[in-house]
Amino acid sequence: MHNRVVLITGGVQRVGYTIAKTLAARGAKLVLSYRTSARQAVEAISALERMGADVITVRADLTRHAEVARLIHQTRRRFGRLDVLVNSAAIFIRTPFAHLTAAQWDQMLDTNLKGPFLCALYASRLMSQHGGGKIINVADWAGVRPYRDYLPYCVSKAGVIGLTKALAKELAPRIQVNAVAPGPVLPPEDMSAATRRRIARRVPLKRWGSPQDVANTVRFLIEGTDFMTGSVVFVDGGQLIA
Ligand SMILES: NC(=O)c1ccc[n+]([C@@H]2O[C@H](COP(=O)([O-])OP(=O)(O)OC[C@H]3O[C@@H](n4cnc5c(N)ncnc54)[C@H](OP(=O)(O)O)[C@@H]3O)[C@@H](O)[C@H]2O)c1
Repeated sequence: MHNRVVLITGGVQRVGYTIAKTLAARGAKLVLSYRTSARQAVEAISALERMGADVITVRADLTRHAEVARLIHQTRRRFGRLDVLVNSAAIFIRTPFAHLTAAQWDQMLDTNLKGPFLCALYASRLMSQHGGGKIINVADWAGVRPYRDYLPYCVSKAGVIGLTKALAKELAPRIQVNAVAPGPVLPPEDMSAATRRRIARRVPLKRWGSPQDVANTVRFLIEGTDFMTGSVVFVDGGQLIA
């Protein structure tokens, strides 16, 4: 990991930030993208710099082609290369089917699927200039076992799993592409305690996981093996067998 350049989308808070801290502790140089969380970006930079990390943050709306191109350009300008892309940014919005709109579908698919695609497209070109690299997509177990009231979200994450496999084939052998599919690891801030407990009861391991479970898996995919591509690692407390 030491001195490898890692771009983490949505990396200034929540799960993305835990991945950032974990990789910074291993000596990675970091590019963290954010869209609206400017205050968290400032806080993330100062906390990571206190750990000794070499880090920049870049504001980018990943649904916009030109902003993704600029994000990769900024990465090259600062570090000259890119070794790992972690596609963590996403949105998670309840969309009951009876009221679902085409605009909601577009927003979810643009953010959760087109965004990772655009990042992979531009990142892979930069990686290829320096011998290759790794792409890790953060999917969701719900991409395989959809739940109700979140149809575009579940479809977007099924797409992320398909994207992972198709990209792995396109980019082999120099770039390896894998996905982490978390179960419940960090509740949205507005989720009630009762809902959190109800979700935990449905998980075979009877609890929420943590962002660190996801970060440890990302770390494994970066430095634990170079012989995996097109794989999906479920970090879901057993949700798939529930
Ligand atoms: N939390 C869980 O329990 C859980 C479970 C399964 C899967 N996952 C997956 O794990 C990943 C991280 O989860 P999380 O809960 O930490 O995510 P999150 O808080 O919902 O979102 C992460 C970041 O995505 C960024 N983002 C959203 N739309 C964007 C856009 N158009 N352009 C650029 N950035 C955008 C946001 O940045 P700004 O705040 O700067 O706008 C946000 O901070 C996601 O892919 C999620 O689907 C999470």
